Amino acid sequence: MRKNWVKKRMIRPKTINKKWIKTFLPKTLFGRSLLILIIPVILIQLISTYVFFDRHWNKMAGRLSYAVAGEIVLIGRLVETSPDPAAVEKITALAGDKLDLIISYRPGETIQKTSSGPQEGYWASYIARIFAKELGQQTQNPFTVDVDFQEKWVEVGLQLEGGVLNISLPQRRLFASTTYIFLLWVYGSSTVLLLIAVLFMRNQIRPIRKLAIAAERFGKGRDVERFKIEGAREVRQAGQAFMDMRTRILRQIEQRTTMLAGVSHDLRTPLTRMRLQAALIGDSPDAEALKGDIEEMEKMIEGYLNFVRGEGNEQPVITDMVPLIEGVINLARRQGRDIDFTHEDLENLSMTVRPLAMRRCLTNVIGNAVKYAHHVWVKLEKPEKKTVLITIEDNGPGIKEEKYEDVFKPFYRVDESRNVDTGGVGLGLPIAMDIVNAHGGTINLEKSARGGLAVKITLPQ
Ligand SMILES: Nc1ncnc2c1ncn2[C@@H]1O[C@H](COP(=O)(O)OP(=O)(O)OP(=O)(O)O)[C@@H](O)[C@H]1O
Ligand SMILES: [Mg+2]
Repeated sequence: MRKNWVKKRMIRPKTINKKWIKTFLPKTLFGRSLLILIIPVILIQLISTYVFFDRHWNKMAGRLSYAVAGEIVLIGRLVETSPDPAAVEKITALAGDKLDLIISYRPGETIQKTSSGPQEGYWASYIARIFAKELGQQTQNPFTVDVDFQEKWVEVGLQLEGGVLNISLPQRRLFASTTYIFLLWVYGSSTVLLLIAVLFMRNQIRPIRKLAIAAERFGKGRDVERFKIEGAREVRQAGQAFMDMRTRILRQIEQRTTMLAGVSHDLRTPLTRMRLQAALIGDSPDAEALKGDIEEMEKMIEGYLNFVRGEGNEQPVITDMVPLIEGVINLARRQGRDIDFTHEDLENLSMTVRPLAMRRCLTNVIGNAVKYAHHVWVKLEKPEKKTVLITIEDNGPGIKEEKYEDVFKPFYRVDESRNVDTGGVGLGLPIAMDIVNAHGGTINLEKSARGGLAVKITLPQ
């Protein structure tokens, strides 16, 4: 029992703390830097407020109370030593004039204990407590203290030998209200400080946010030509590095595209010549094999050229995905296959894509399904915000799981399919993957519940 308890206590705090911190920590850089600034400021304020009240203010209130208590006790003694009305009147007049104390003496009375109840409000009881303490130290006689904080007035009753001395005095004799100004300064100035910091920080964080957006856009294969390098030195460095990287990647893509286009184009002419020559040779089995090879090579070159075309200078545009997919499906249906298309009833299924490339990608995947199966199901959905999922399923033979990676390699074809009359070159899936990646998405293969292959294309919206 005890062991369990120890175990729990040892393990739990760590996991809870982490989660706790994560849920309360702001997610944005702006929020976090603001927190870094606010926490010390609030801490300093709390500490200084505490120190101020504890050390300075308490002490001062004590001193003021001490002085007033002394005066009251002194007057009490004077009245006690000469209680005749004329002398008392003289004393009260003097006290009113010089000490700001309004005094009345009621001979023969005694203090009702109940008259000094708990004070209303925090400050009233605070003043009463301190004053009562000081007065209690200076006299043994019973007394009452009543503070009316609203009216800024304090009533004191002191029991003397022959009666009760009532003293009214203004609150300011016990309580320095100007000390509020100190607090106003502390909190006001730090509020101003925070406001200024917020303004400056926003300006500092804006370039970082812009860089993040630009990198995200570029990752999705969109243009970021208008990105301006700005901000603090480190941010500029990161921005410059990003722009250099972008240039390098663009140049590489361009080089690859040009090279592919050049090679394909150059190979075409000799191939055409070879086909003509093969036709002249006649109909021997060797000639047939040669013709088959030539045909295959032509297909490969066609594949290359398609690949290259897909990466031309096509610009991304906002496209409604439903008609785009429908167009591809309608073409595929001409081959006499059943294709079901379902999509969620969502208004916002349009996204920024390169329509020609996207159409080529879907044509390749749906084309495969149509080639290897009889029934195809295409589904368009939005599993989460800003993500679109296209699933292409079929009831064909499918692909073995260990080949999932291989089929994305150029010219790779699963063995059995070599014999099928379909006769592709093995570029369909690599091209599809290239296009999906260029849109910042992913393409995955799975086993479909319909029996065949399920191709899942996830695209950021
Ligand atoms: N829906 C599918 N069902 C079964 N096998 C498939 C399916 N899609 C692809 N494959 C297998 O993956 C291999 C690679 O496909 P890929 O589209 O890259 O080439 P291809 O279809 O053979 O030729 P291409 O598309 O270039 O004309 C295919 O040869 C085939 O064996
Ligand atoms: Mg294919």
